[in-house]
Amino acid sequence: MSIEKCRIIELSKIHDVRGNLTVVENGKLLPYDIKRVYYLYDVPGGVARGGHAHVATEQFLVAMSGSFDVVLDDGFRKKTFSLNRAYYGLYVSTMVWRELNNFSSGAVCLSLVSTLYLEDDYIRDYQDFITRVRA
Ligand code: TYD
Repeated sequence: MSIEKCRIIELSKIHDVRGNLTVVENGKLLPYDIKRVYYLYDVPGGVARGGHAHVATEQFLVAMSGSFDVVLDDGFRKKTFSLNRAYYGLYVSTMVWRELNNFSSGAVCLSLVSTLYLEDDYIRDYQDFITRVRA
């Protein structure tokens, strides 16, 4: 099941008196090459983002600032992850429905993505998703 591939990945944290530095290098840690970066910010309280799955896209989500929850669902199981630190993130595999909610004020969600943006890669209808994963 796809949800078992989804996991928290710890990043390095280089700390000194000037603060912290975290690095993500292509070809290390993440199981794919990074082709795209986007981020969510200024998310109003009470709003949910996501609400879709991807056929071929893998991604890694990091709470760069603040916190939010990610609810994953592979059509058989659901799991919720709370992200609230910049030195770890959540790897989300293909064919996993995700919803991001419970954003704190000032939260920033960084997304490191395995593909360029392609609307055809999205499954935006939950019933369609369930039909496909259970087929
Ligand atoms: P959407 O998929 O609804 O965002 P979220 O996953 O956070 O709910 O995307 C919002 C809009 O942004 C939608 O019109 C598609 C567009 N978009 C791009 O043009 N490029 C991108 O890389 C992404 C992620 C979204």
